[in-house]
Amino acid sequence: MHFKTSGTALYAMEALAGQIGSCRKCALALSRTKTVPGEGPAPCRVMLVGEGPGKKEDESGRPFVGRAGAILSDLLAQIDLSRDEVFITSVVKCRPPGNRTPGKEEIAACMPFLQRQIAILSPVIVVPMGRVATSAIFSRYGIAFPSFREVRGKRFLMSENETGREMSVIPVYHPAVITHNPPARAALEEDFTRLGEILCTLI
Ligand code: URA
Repeated sequence: MHFKTSGTALYAMEALAGQIGSCRKCALALSRTKTVPGEGPAPCRVMLVGEGPGKKEDESGRPFVGRAGAILSDLLAQIDLSRDEVFITSVVKCRPPGNRTPGKEEIAACMPFLQRQIAILSPVIVVPMGRVATSAIFSRYGIAFPSFREVRGKRFLMSENETGREMSVIPVYHPAVITHNPPARAALEEDFTRLGEILCTLI
């Protein structure tokens, strides 16, 4: 897959990363080491969205560099994608202490950053990984969210708020699921295989 980089998108993403870096809109700012805005090509075709940074991400300021990141790189390789071909970020840009699930208020405070990233990057496909990212994106873009099980591996069309541009949203399991539930590996691989199949029809 070949990506063209646009100076305008890159500049806008850098400016946004600066705003994220000085954000104090929720309590996560008090305990973070570094903010983790995300990384990848700008604009991008595929955007992956996790839940929130873990310890390694908080220390480095880079998304998915810990154990979940290694699993993610393997899953991407299985569908012929490399990390530098996709934009990787999370719903909240600061680590929740002890890796707890981010709270509703924290997600709401951070959501404008994700929305802005989507507007700047114009992804063809947005891939929320796990229940937290999926439910946040579905509610923000006005789609009913029955349960994660019912939506995973399926494609949903949503309109990007700022421009009305259409994007496909394809929820998958979060790569970290197999660190606490090893039997979920089959379901996780199934989701990424399905993502690869849909990707071939769209890109
Ligand atoms: N899990 C996430 O959701 N995001 C990261 O950056 C790392 C682990």
